[in-house]
Amino acid sequence: MSSLSELYPIPAIDPCWTVPQDFNAAFDFDYGPGRNSLMHLYQKGKDMQWDAVSRIDWDLDLDFDNPMQLPDESNALFGSPIWEKMTKKERRELRRHGQAWNISQFMQGEQAALVCAAKIVTQVPDLDAKFYASTQTMDEARHVEAYKKLLQKFNVAYPMTEPLQHLVDQALRDPRWDMTYLAMQVVIEGLALAAFGTIRDMSQNPLTRMVNAYVMEDEARHVAFGRLTLRDYYPQLTDAERDEREEFLVEACYLMRDRFSARETYEVLGLPVDECVAWVEKSDMMNLFRTMLFQRIVPVVKDIGLWGPRIQKAYIDMGVMHYADQDLDELAKQDESIAAEIDAEQVDARTAYVKAVAALAE
Ligand SMILES: [Fe+2]
Ligand SMILES: [Fe+2]
Repeated sequence: MSSLSELYPIPAIDPCWTVPQDFNAAFDFDYGPGRNSLMHLYQKGKDMQWDAVSRIDWDLDLDFDNPMQLPDESNALFGSPIWEKMTKKERRELRRHGQAWNISQFMQGEQAALVCAAKIVTQVPDLDAKFYASTQTMDEARHVEAYKKLLQKFNVAYPMTEPLQHLVDQALRDPRWDMTYLAMQVVIEGLALAAFGTIRDMSQNPLTRMVNAYVMEDEARHVAFGRLTLRDYYPQLTDAERDEREEFLVEACYLMRDRFSARETYEVLGLPVDECVAWVEKSDMMNLFRTMLFQRIVPVVKDIGLWGPRIQKAYIDMGVMHYADQDLDELAKQDESIAAEIDAEQVDARTAYVKAVAALAE
């Protein structure tokens, strides 16, 4: 199978990206029992590992006209004059590229999470957190593998979009270990969890539903990891130190809300880029989607104690304050039970197939 970079429709993408590092590798010679909450999560991380090769049915295919079988209303350009003028074939290409852009950002974000989790293993001072971060590292490798396989079926893939790269760069470059958690486990994984959820719940394509549901049950643990570790750590900081974190969070949240758009796809497809972006900016659907992306971030930020006036003002301005009291444990349970339902559907589908084949043979 070819390299994924051969599928990038944008020329001259450097296949290697490096971020300079300046931090201490920490050892924990105490070997204490570890915090119950983190040791429990670590055990769960070990118990719930799965294999993309065997759990996912890669014989399933994407749809020719609409790969993930998503409603057209979920396309940011739906209903625009640009959309109305398009031929059937152009709309098909827009769906394929737009959806591949989306899955590409998931995959690129997964590789970022892989590298960030490995940084945490090295840098975080406590052994219980190193244990958990090591299971997350393995989870992220499996996620990159799964999305890479899925993208091969689209036959097109996109490089990491600039705003995401900017935030990942900050997460890695910062010498303070908690900043990596804040950018990755709180902001990027919080957003990803909400975005995976929309595909899992809206896609009619069994393969894409399956991949996203399985990744999500792991991501819910990763977000819990950030929450449990930072909830212990932030009360130990001074007001000034906490304020710095809040400032970073506010900037990161606006960056992801305002600059995360599939601009590259419009360029590749030869569409009027500024006109497309302007339409997306004022689209009610996109605004609703952007609001919804924060449903898993806001309750975590409140829970870890970065809840000063600066943050609250930003979340009121963004219209996402109503998410503050979401029950994260309940949402994580739901993510696990939906993945289990999809497992059961797969078993049913296989049993029906085997019965049908046996009946033909009779
Ligand atoms: Fe992941
Ligand atoms: Fe993750």
